[in-house]
This record gives sequence, C-alpha cells and structure tokens, in this order.
Amino acid sequence: MYTKPQILDLQATTKLFLQSPQKIVAIDMLRKILKFHEYQYYVSASPLISDYEYDTLFKILIELEAKHPNLITKDSPSQRVGNSLNNNFETLAHLVPMLSLENSYNADDLNDFDRKAREGALLDAITYCVEPKFDGASISLVYENDFLVRACTRGDGVAGEEITQNIKQIRSIPLSIPLSEYGIQQMEIRGEVIMSKKSFENFNEKLKSKQLTILANPRNAAAGSLRMKDPAEVGERNLDAFIYHISFYNLQQGATIPELLKTHSGALELLWNLGFRSPQNEKKIFSNMQDVIKFCNDFESKRDNLPYEIDGLVIKINDFALQEKLGMTSHHPRWAIAYKFKARQATTILENVEFQVGRTGAVTPVAKLQAVAIGGVTVSSISMHNEEYIKEKDLRLGDTVIIERAGDVIPQIVQSIPALRKGTEKIIEFPNNCPVCDYLLEKEEAEAVWRCNNPLCTAQIVERIIHFVSKDAMDIKSFGDANIRKFYELGLLKNIPEVYQLNFDQIATLEGFGKKSVDNLKAAIEASKSQPLYRLIYALGIRFVGETTAKTIAAQINHILDLTLLSEAELQNFEDVGIKVAKSIYDYFHDENNIALIKNLEALGLNMIQTNTTAVDGNLAGLYFLFTGTLTQLKRSEAEAIVEAGGGHILSGVSSKLNYLVVGEDAGSKLEKAKKIASIKIITEADFIELVKN
Ligand code: IVH
Repeated sequence: MYTKPQILDLQATTKLFLQSPQKIVAIDMLRKILKFHEYQYYVSASPLISDYEYDTLFKILIELEAKHPNLITKDSPSQRVGNSLNNNFETLAHLVPMLSLENSYNADDLNDFDRKAREGALLDAITYCVEPKFDGASISLVYENDFLVRACTRGDGVAGEEITQNIKQIRSIPLSIPLSEYGIQQMEIRGEVIMSKKSFENFNEKLKSKQLTILANPRNAAAGSLRMKDPAEVGERNLDAFIYHISFYNLQQGATIPELLKTHSGALELLWNLGFRSPQNEKKIFSNMQDVIKFCNDFESKRDNLPYEIDGLVIKINDFALQEKLGMTSHHPRWAIAYKFKARQATTILENVEFQVGRTGAVTPVAKLQAVAIGGVTVSSISMHNEEYIKEKDLRLGDTVIIERAGDVIPQIVQSIPALRKGTEKIIEFPNNCPVCDYLLEKEEAEAVWRCNNPLCTAQIVERIIHFVSKDAMDIKSFGDANIRKFYELGLLKNIPEVYQLNFDQIATLEGFGKKSVDNLKAAIEASKSQPLYRLIYALGIRFVGETTAKTIAAQINHILDLTLLSEAELQNFEDVGIKVAKSIYDYFHDENNIALIKNLEALGLNMIQTNTTAVDGNLAGLYFLFTGTLTQLKRSEAEAIVEAGGGHILSGVSSKLNYLVVGEDAGSKLEKAKKIASIKIITEADFIELVKN
C-alpha cells in the first residue's frame, strides 16, 4: 500500500531519475519506483507519469539487469515480460474448490435469501456487503511467502489450468505482496480478469485493421486471453483484474488472525492494502435487505456508465463467523447471492441476409433476425461485417443464434447453435455481383471486404450524399437518411452539388413537407455553406480520412485545392498520416471528377478556405480539458469546439496530463479518478464558461 507521504517521495525520486538517469545507483529503488507507478496506473487508476516516462525507466531497468543478472529478483517488473511460450497448461487442484453463486433476479428472490439467512443465523438483522459482479473470466491466485507462485483458471471448480505466465502480464496483479506484514504465510484468492470497454474497443479496432474477426464482447476477449500460447500477446491486450475473495490462508507460526479478516469488507480492505484492485471503493454496506434491494434497482441504470462490464451485483453476508455458520451447498455458498441484471443476450433465428453497399462500395452482409428484445431494445438486424465473419462463426440461414447487446456496444452475433439445426439451414452465399448495380465485386489482396468499384453505383451515390450532410460532416439538420433516399428516388437529388440546387417548390408539394419544414431545410442548407474547411474535407468521404485526419489536413492548408499540390511524401509529413492515408488523399485530389466536384461546390458558395487557424496563442493554449457528465448550457461538441478554438486540447481520459475536468450533471468515474490527482482542477460548466470568456 502506498500512503500519501510516500507518494510525494516516490514521485520526487521518479522525476530525479527521469532528469538524471545516471543517478540511478540502487536498482531496488528503481524497481520500487516502477512498481509504484504500476500500482498508480493499474490499481488506483491515477497515473502520475506518462506512458513514455514509465517506458524510459523500464528500459533502464532492463539494461541494468542485463548488465547485472545476479541482481534480478523474481518480482522485478521485468519478470512480467514472458520469454518463453506456454506449451501446455497443467491441471492443478485449487486449495479450496471454486464454487459458483446462486442467482436472483428480483426483490422476491432477495427477500427469500434474506429470510433463509436470518433463519439459519437465528438473527433479526444481518449486515450485507454489496459489490459489482464483474463480467469476465474467474481466476485463482496463490501467494506464498510474499510471492505469487501460481495462477489458475476456474476449470471445473475443483481443478483448473495453470496460467501463471499469462497472469503475470496483468499489471494490476502484483508479483509480490507484503503478506508477512499481516502474519500470513500462504494465501489463495479469487478474482475476475476483465477487459475494459475502452481496451475492448481498441482491441477490436486492431483486429479489424488486421482483417481478423472481431470479438463479440469483453468477456470473451478476457477469457480467450487466459489460455494464449504467447504471454507477450496477453500483455498487449491490456487486461485488468478485480480480486474479491480470500478463499484460504495459512498464518505464520505464532501469528494471530488479522483484525481485518473478520468481515468481507475488511478482507476487501486488506486485499486493497496488499496492492490488489479489490472492489474496495465500489463496495457498499447495508444493514437490511430493503436497502440492498433499492440499491440493486438503482444500480442497474448506472451499469453503462462504468468503464467495464458487469452483469449484476453480488450480495455477501459481511460477517465471516456468520458465513461459516451458514456454510455452503455443493454448488454455491449460502452466504452470498448474485443479483443478475436484465440479460443482454438472447437467442433468435437468422432469417435472411441483406448485402448492403456503403459509400466506399464495401458490401456488408447484414443479418435479418426474428425481432427480439434485449435489455429494453428490439433487435432485428445486425451487421455481420464480412464474408470471413460468416465463415468463422459458421452462420447459416435458419440458424438459431445467440446475440448480445453490451450497453453502448453495437449488437453482435456471439455464435450459432449447431445443436438446434434441423437440416433445412442454408449456407450463406456471398454474391459475385453488386446487389444494387450488378457490377462484378472485387476484393483487394489482404482485405476482408468485397467492393463494388462502379463509380456510378446508385447505392454508393446515395450513401455519399447521406455522409456529406451527416452530423459530423456538413451537419445539415432536418435532412435525414429517409429524405435523401426519397429525393433521390424522385429524381430531385442526384449528386452532392444538387444538395445546394434543390427545387424547393417541388419539395413543398411532397407529403410531410409543410412551409415550416421547407424553411428549416433551406436555412440548414444555407448555413452549411460556411462550415469550417475540415468538415468539408471529411464530408467528401475520402477513404481513410476520418474527422481527426480531416482536422489535421485542414490546419496545414489555406485552400482545399492546395491539396492538389502536395506529393504523397509531403502528405505523410502530417501528423497521423501514414502511407495508406497519404496515397488515398493524393489519389482523391488527382482525380478530375473529384476536382470538378470541388469546383462545382465552390461555385455554389461553399467555404473552401481555412478560416480559424489553430489558435496556438489562444487563451487556452497548451491546456488539456476533459468533459464528464451532462452539460446543461452548452452542447458537448460546442464546449469542445470552444477549447480547440482557444488553442486547448481535449483528452479522452483522466491522466496527470489533464488540466481541467469540467463536470456536468451525473458525472461518473472520471470525476472520482480526477479527484485523486491533485494537479487537476475540477470545475463546473459555469466555471468553464467564465474561464473561456477571459
Ligand atoms: S464471489 C465463494 N464476487 O461470478 C465465492 N464472484 O456467477 C464466490 N464473480 O464464479 C464468488 N464478480 O467468477 C464473487 N464480486 C464477485 C464476483 C464474482 C464476478 C463471478 C465468479 C463466480 C461467478 C458466479
């Protein structure tokens, strides 16, 4: 455990080491520093140095240890980096069987549990400890004489597979802990390996860019990681672990049971003090079941605000003596129960597949499903991404499939259930020709998508117009997808420039277009002409040019046609523009049709020049901001634009780099995290407005 004064000392030494690496004479101190920063980052979620600074110190450690191998310790941060592959995963018996939990779904189930517990305990009231039910893969760890000696999967509950090498890659799991300070010689603990929502998104992005099949949910991603052959690959997955249970411990000779080990909440505190990420800050204590029930009901809606997935809450009787008295069945303890949130998985039938053509010509298979409700939302259509995805999951027409919707994550097909096949299911055939224009589909080498390369394909034209007017592009309000499709079908809108040449008299005759809606549309189209340059660049739909790249490019030029003058090499000099992106931009601006389109738009009055060059000298220059919770006076996008216009930057998460956290209503974990970093100024929306005025 790291207490405040130590934080200051260790941080001061960190800075000293970074400024003058030659001053590192004590390798032990360097290891202590690195362990301290691992803890700050992975357990406390309040990093004090940047990744780069950590890596710099880590490299020095590796160099020192290479020079003096006799000084390597088995809990050195360098020892996480596996140097051998896992050959087989040996099966080992757990010290204590890993039981499961009984499930509950409503207040009645919980009241039943409470009544039985009180009867068994001969008590009128019981204290409960409630904590998240982490949705990951469960593990057990054994520490002996302060060191991690083995880690196992759950297996069948009695014995699991030994995965120590892989578990050492998870930096929230310490390689050594001060057990002896508590008089403990050996300890077996249980927890859950999870992948945060953010890491899951990044991981799937990586898979996508390598043309690999993406995973359905963070739980599968975490579980699949545990048995990987190469520990280094596990390391790249950025896993986390919550430890919530001490299943067994042996005291050192003459030692007495630590005071904290009388209750579950005490055990969580002890685990936290030892350096684990236990649910110490998430847990809540209640003195009666009615309050537990209220908490469970209220918590379900907060589930999506957490940075990781949970599938419910676990309610545990807090007093260990009472736990022992109640005992367990062969399946679950009688002193704990899981309260499961509404399922986000469901089974349904894959009835049909539609092949949709996007604005770049990519053909995406979309599963049409028998409509089914998951977590309050009806799902009847799910993207199947590409041909490989269908093959790998062996999805067939008529199959029963398990689908899942994880919070704000887009619904996915988890798998088909082959055991339920009747023999009438059909293999899904990918078409050879574009389903819209019949052009022969092509697939580039090392790409997973089939593409229609017909520039006149009507599906692509419509999709390009939809993208052009969309919110992040030219942001033409009241011009939804359905209207664009309708106008296209009626011949009122055939290409992007015609957005600015609409015949409003004709539109006014259409059903649903009263004077007010026509006026709104007119005004929105007119206003879009003066959108900043980056929006236009993004709106053109150049392959690989997202909003961020569009901003980077716009900041480097005066007029959009300046891009016709830049070579691929010059384009690659821009931040975040690699070979692939540079080639795509170059090709776009060397195609006469595209240049004609741009000139046409210029003639129609659209802004083509860079107006607000980044205000490096602005009042917010060099400052980092992050917004959390709901803003009431400004839109999030407006607030972010104000920061950028003032030369400031927006960060995506809380770190020591952050200068201001602007807190709106119902702020969540970001606020808690920021409170732990003294250098961050936490301000309200009103403070922010005041700040930017000056
Ligand atoms: S307590 C005897 N606490 O949920 C102790 N389990 O569905 C039993 N789980 O097998 C476990 N979060 O893998 C406990 N806070 C938590 C948990 C938790 C997730 C998992 C655990 C268990 C499964 C039961």
